[in-house]
Amino acid sequence: MCGIVGYIGPKDAYPILIKGLQRLEYRGYDSAGVALIDSDLKLYKNYGKVADLEEYVKGKDLAGNIGIAHTRWATHGEPNQVNAHPHFSQDKRLALIHNGIIENYSSLREELIKRGHKFESETDTEVLVHLIEDVKKNENVDLVEAVRIALNMVIGAYAIALVSVDNPDLLIAARKGSPLVIGIGEGEFFLASDATPLVEYTKNVVYLDEEEIAIIPRNGNLEIKTIKNKKKTPYVETLELNLSALEKGGYDHFMLKEIYEQPTSIKDSMRGRLDIDKGTVKLGGIIDYEEKMAKAKRIIMVACGTSWHAALVGEYLFEDIARIPVEVEYGSEFRYRNPIINEDDIVIAISQSGETADTLAAIRMAKEKGATIIGVCNVVGSSIARETHAGVYTHAGPEIGVASTKAFTAQVTVLSLMALRIASLKGNIKKSRFRQLLIEMETIPEKVEETLKLADEILDFSKIFTYSRNFLYLGRGYNFPVALEGALKLKEISYIHAEGYPAAEMKHGPIALIDKEMPVVVIATKKGAYEKVLSNIEEIKARKGRIIAVVTKGDTEVKKLADFMVEIPETEEMFVPLLATIPLQFLAYHIAVRRDCEVDMPRNLAKSVTVE
Ligand code: F6R
Repeated sequence: MCGIVGYIGPKDAYPILIKGLQRLEYRGYDSAGVALIDSDLKLYKNYGKVADLEEYVKGKDLAGNIGIAHTRWATHGEPNQVNAHPHFSQDKRLALIHNGIIENYSSLREELIKRGHKFESETDTEVLVHLIEDVKKNENVDLVEAVRIALNMVIGAYAIALVSVDNPDLLIAARKGSPLVIGIGEGEFFLASDATPLVEYTKNVVYLDEEEIAIIPRNGNLEIKTIKNKKKTPYVETLELNLSALEKGGYDHFMLKEIYEQPTSIKDSMRGRLDIDKGTVKLGGIIDYEEKMAKAKRIIMVACGTSWHAALVGEYLFEDIARIPVEVEYGSEFRYRNPIINEDDIVIAISQSGETADTLAAIRMAKEKGATIIGVCNVVGSSIARETHAGVYTHAGPEIGVASTKAFTAQVTVLSLMALRIASLKGNIKKSRFRQLLIEMETIPEKVEETLKLADEILDFSKIFTYSRNFLYLGRGYNFPVALEGALKLKEISYIHAEGYPAAEMKHGPIALIDKEMPVVVIATKKGAYEKVLSNIEEIKARKGRIIAVVTKGDTEVKKLADFMVEIPETEEMFVPLLATIPLQFLAYHIAVRRDCEVDMPRNLAKSVTVE
């Protein structure tokens, strides 16, 4: 949510900052801005995308080798030019960008107004930069100390970057709740909300920790201190990001590229973990905690959005094969509910970005109450990955499209491996059956590859639904979360209203919606409650609903009833979500493209939701 970029060094800052914003645009894209210093402080900002900012600054003075830039996802104040970041202090000598929410901004604002401050925007960010200015003047301290004191006065979450025309050789950054990474180059420093803008300049990075301030000088060493004034030693890590993973690579959209990457991302998420020859699953990241997991009386899975759907698949997996009761929780509900948490509880946090504020807050709360926290994250070094006791990374690679695709299937892959590992530890699965499941799991990337070949078929019939206004998605058992995920994908990127339901629930309400206008996507794969789903399909047909069915290859029953049908390869029931999700990703994608929607940057959304 909101992208932050900063640069200090010998080069022109503007091209580096703009490129950085383009890389971070998936985090928010309602407005963008940049501040640069050479002899004076120049600030340009505009409503709209980074491209609109580029257009806006054409012909303007862009000189300067220190600067900050921001792409916004509005929290306080509507998206417009005035509310866009950076924001000036009253005397226009400081410029600040911010990701997060200052919760007590309104009382601080009133106080500052009494002291003569005038505000141009409705943002909490402008309040913060005025506060820093006010502290600096009234306490007669230097800029770093003013930032430190001001940050002790605010309640909320922030990642900030600040420049001052009076300190043109200094970039200041700080974080609490929202991520920041500092890239260390040869005589230059870079700053960003995540590592994607840094990778083409340096592999050496320092992840800022909670409540840390980075003092980044033009010449000299990076210094870090906490807002409580404790000095910290910067811990330099090496990035393992590949630049090509951040490019579209010939595809029209990142989402499409990421759909096609799934055979690889699933394989990468299994690599070195699943060993057919030895008949084992090894998950190095949880090795010290797996006994505890196996003995757990229950597992709580916390997540949001698509990751919450992966958690639902996880519930089926763990209950089905590891025989451990699972509760699946929305981070946002769990954290505010005074839940009962015991010391022998295992909490699994699932998050692509590893920065989702509600999931992070939920695990902090559960950790405080003594639970063991296991992470399933995609972004290496992310906040959730760092705050869990242990975890297993999904090796999906960077996911840039705002609508999650390959991260979901990678999460399901890792949860399948975990459930298998715990099941084998508990000894409640026969060796031969275990081996059979491992052998089948290893074939999944190939079967995903085969499923991807359905793209043209789906493109063909998706045309008919370009102007549909509603969709229903139905599935049972393992396919219920798939239905939810299919509906979420469609609404996110095509803005068509869609709902996912357990198929049998249809008769308890949603059936009233069915008429000849209503497309109903039914995941009706063999095994599980196939016969029951077949009856549900009959019920839809009887009411003239238009049926799009996802079935197992060779199915003849559904064919008699469905208007459109896609056949996915046969697999074990527990692995069906890894295949059945893919046609639904394509369906959402093709409909969105035909509706001229911005597939990679859907309206109002942002990739990394770092605010509540
Ligand atoms: C949906 C989507 C969101 C995220 C949700 C959680 O396509 O991308 O629903 O799944 O915001 O994000 P992470 O997984 O980063 O915690």
